[in-house]
Amino acid sequence: MAKQLIALTVNGDPYEVAVSPHQTLLEVMRDSLNLTGTKRGCTAGSCGVCTVNGEQGEVILSCLALAVEWDGRSVTTVEGVEEGNELHPIQKSFLEHGAVQCGFCTPGLIMSAKALLDVNTSPSETDINEAMAGVICRCTGHIKVKKAIKEAASVLREREVNHGES
Ligand code: FES
Ligand code: FES
Repeated sequence: MAKQLIALTVNGDPYEVAVSPHQTLLEVMRDSLNLTGTKRGCTAGSCGVCTVNGEQGEVILSCLALAVEWDGRSVTTVEGVEEGNELHPIQKSFLEHGAVQCGFCTPGLIMSAKALLDVNTSPSETDINEAMAGVICRCTGHIKVKKAIKEAASVLREREVNHGES
């Protein structure tokens, strides 16, 4: 089937890429753009390891998103979460709290947590549970992940206060 040229911005970088009508965003990012931070798991919308964020901070399962539907749009992947040369507070917090084991689910967890913290730096237990429910970790439970999110939330709240004062 004929390929279509789409314009896709990933982590602020513009790409033009020829895609087949059936190709997913996940396939295009990993196989065409060589952005392999986003993981390929079930490819059926069940595990969440392929999660990326849309331009409005939406949580997107990239294995279910058709690339052609993202023509002219932007996504952020785990490769785009860093702030300059510094890890984002959620990334630092995952490392500090041992919330990474084999790491396969980590990009999906980070993108889900970041989507939450971008709009809510005082998440309740329920908020965190709901935000993280779509990503399955095979290595461990979500206890360390939840601790990491709470710690990152407190760093981000402090940043908001300091920003408000400056
Ligand atoms: S790979 Fe997308 S939900 Fe599992
Ligand atoms: S850290 Fe291994 S699957 Fe989550």
